[in-house]
Amino acid sequence: MSQILLIDDNQGIAKALKVLFSLYNLSMQHAETPEQGLVLLETTEIDLVIQDMNFSDDTTSGEEGKILFNQIHNQYPDTPIILLTAWGKIEMAVELVKQGAADYITKPWDDIKLVNTLTNLLELGQLRRQTHSILKHKSDQAKKLAKNFDLCDTIFDSEAMLQNLTIATQIAHADIPVLITGPNGSGKEKIAEVIQVNSSVCKQPFIKVNIGALPVDLLEAELFGVEAGAFTGAQKKRIGRFEAADGGTLFLDEIGNLPLNGQIKLLRVIQTGEFERLGSSKTRKVTVRIISATNADLKEEIEKGNFREDLYYRLNVIEINIVPLCDRKDDILPLALHFMPDDFVLTRDAERDLMNHSWPGNVRELQNVIQRASLLSNDKKLSADKLGLLPVKIASNNSSRIEPDKQMLIETLAKNKHNISQTAKQLGLSRQSLYRRLDKYDIAKGHL
Ligand SMILES: Nc1ncnc2c1ncn2[C@@H]1O[C@H](COP(=O)(O)OP(=O)(O)OP(=O)(O)O)[C@@H](O)[C@H]1O
Ligand SMILES: [Mg+2]
Repeated sequence: MSQILLIDDNQGIAKALKVLFSLYNLSMQHAETPEQGLVLLETTEIDLVIQDMNFSDDTTSGEEGKILFNQIHNQYPDTPIILLTAWGKIEMAVELVKQGAADYITKPWDDIKLVNTLTNLLELGQLRRQTHSILKHKSDQAKKLAKNFDLCDTIFDSEAMLQNLTIATQIAHADIPVLITGPNGSGKEKIAEVIQVNSSVCKQPFIKVNIGALPVDLLEAELFGVEAGAFTGAQKKRIGRFEAADGGTLFLDEIGNLPLNGQIKLLRVIQTGEFERLGSSKTRKVTVRIISATNADLKEEIEKGNFREDLYYRLNVIEINIVPLCDRKDDILPLALHFMPDDFVLTRDAERDLMNHSWPGNVRELQNVIQRASLLSNDKKLSADKLGLLPVKIASNNSSRIEPDKQMLIETLAKNKHNISQTAKQLGLSRQSLYRRLDKYDIAKGHL
């Protein structure tokens, strides 16, 4: 039950308030002097103070009340203080409210209004205490993680990222496949690194393959290796990434882009560790921990017949989902500061624009924006105009759009297997406007 402390030398007021509060199930202690009040504050748990402004019969100045208020407010800044003041003498109370008093009430008071004010303040206090304890718990958890594990310089302040890192470090030691999902540039590879460095095979090879970046016809040779003469152009034998990763970890990025043929072979290696190099009938065996990543919705790909369901369940024994940066706004400013040179500062308008931007390219986009602005800045001040973030536009599909640069166009095309409609949709453009931009950057010939 919340405890209210009344500091007032008038017994009549104390009696009246005690009766009133008991009707509302509020408990009140009474101190007749400021000294007694301070002792009670020190010895008991008090949630709210109601204090008179005058304690000697001959003074009406409110000076005593002001001294008492300052003493309590300095010592217990989180405890709300309500001032009791005579009608017509409210100037001092108004001044103290400006200095941090929660409210003032004039005598005689309105019972309902007083009880409402009190209950609101008590609820607010409870909420504040809960928030404090959640924040403290969060920061304790983050410190513990950073102390016990190598977090690969991952910057975060959001609850979502804390949970991701907690899972990543917890499962790092287990030899189970992990699937990391999340949009472009959100930090999937970063999480894969955290898993690898904290795993029992951290000293063994860590091989990364970006399936989305490899031409389909070279993929299998790349993954499983190739014997000399296996096909035109394969003059030398080459070991594949599975063999290279033997005993260690293989990171399969953009797994959603693996064609069905490759999926069957991958399923077999995961189940048995066995595979053959292209052009060879000799079966080889490896032990590899697989971490895969995708920005595609694999469940949807399964429904469309583009991804094998059995492989999906093999790959995602554990799934770590990274939410877009716009859904973990707590990370934006810490990341911006991290990407900025040490002696640079962010201006307030820049902070505001960073927080308001929707970050369709997530952390990578933020990194690019900060690095570009830092290069352009001669005075070591990153202001909104240097960041050059466009005002947020809400596209019809509810995602906001920024003007894509050449790099972003090439990457988005590759991610969408060069499908123009999908690429345009992801960038929030019409097909025509996408074509215009491809022409402008001369991307069409080299990349389609
Ligand atoms: N929390 C973070 N702290 C520090 N750097 C980060 C964080 N998240 C991402 N980065 C950096 O942002 C860039 C993009 O991250 P990463 O490559 O891990 O994203 P991704 O999800 O794999 O992207 P893509 O979908 O394009 O493959 C990298 O340079 C990475 O180091
Ligand atoms: Mg990646």
